[in-house]
Amino acid sequence: MSSTTVTSTTTVPPPAPAKPRSSHKSRDLLAAADIVKDTWYQDLVRDGYCVVKGAIPQERALQYANEMFDWLEGFNLGFDRNDPSTINEKHLPIINEKGMCLNYAATHEDWAWKIRSEPGVIDAFEKVYQDKDLIVSFDAVNLTFPNRTDIPANKPWPHQDQDPEKPGFRCLQGLVNLLPNGPKDGGLIVCKGAYHLSKEYHDHFRSEERIPAWTPEWYGFKETGMQWFKEKGFEWVKVEVSKATYPSEKSPTNPLRPTPVTSCSGTRDAPTTTSRQSRTNHASRCTPATCPSPTPRKKT
Ligand SMILES: [Fe+2]
Repeated sequence: MSSTTVTSTTTVPPPAPAKPRSSHKSRDLLAAADIVKDTWYQDLVRDGYCVVKGAIPQERALQYANEMFDWLEGFNLGFDRNDPSTINEKHLPIINEKGMCLNYAATHEDWAWKIRSEPGVIDAFEKVYQDKDLIVSFDAVNLTFPNRTDIPANKPWPHQDQDPEKPGFRCLQGLVNLLPNGPKDGGLIVCKGAYHLSKEYHDHFRSEERIPAWTPEWYGFKETGMQWFKEKGFEWVKVEVSKATYPSEKSPTNPLRPTPVTSCSGTRDAPTTTSRQSRTNHASRCTPATCPSPTPRKKT
């Protein structure tokens, strides 16, 4: 009886050896370079990021920002958009020190879908992908308030959202910025043009112990890596929109009155992205993330 059992287990074929991850064939999203002539696309190719100005008309951007504030007030925790003293944990739903609201199905709120469905947002992704059949992922909503002292101080977390072992232009992300974002506000910071050296960087640092991550599609840069880019001459750039309507420093405490200007920025693979906010924020930041990509299709 027992010998029969042994026989059955030895006939199971061994698992096929795992393919080296470096053999992954990436989609080249720069293939549209000869087709898309928009300035923002050329910026994307050159710098690894771009700003699509006016992707949403100003009045609708303001409407969406207001709907986000309606939503916050709708928790009935005491938050009042006209009362800065209510900008604290006691009166708000859980928003972490990075301004990220990850819960409450926020990304399925009506305003989140309307933002994602804006033609100017979709158009940018359709052009890059050269495909109108897109699906959209759900990430998070960023609601950053100025001068918060009731939560831990935020620190930059330089990273890329793509597995270094799967190189190429594979990850394109969008942030829809609804309110002005100036030099002293928190927000997206990018290492301009550094994606051109992505392979060189990761070849150099492949043996370095990584910052733990829940997915290989996230890679965090350590101080050694940041220094490497600095020595290569790269600069970190704070992405700004609407300098002209940026609130003056003399009236920094009212976060709810800035004129909204909308943009859609894309970041591509490579060591280009990080985000930060600081206690010196001067204005609120309402920034849903939207990441359309082509619908998977069966191979023919
Ligand atoms: Fe990210």
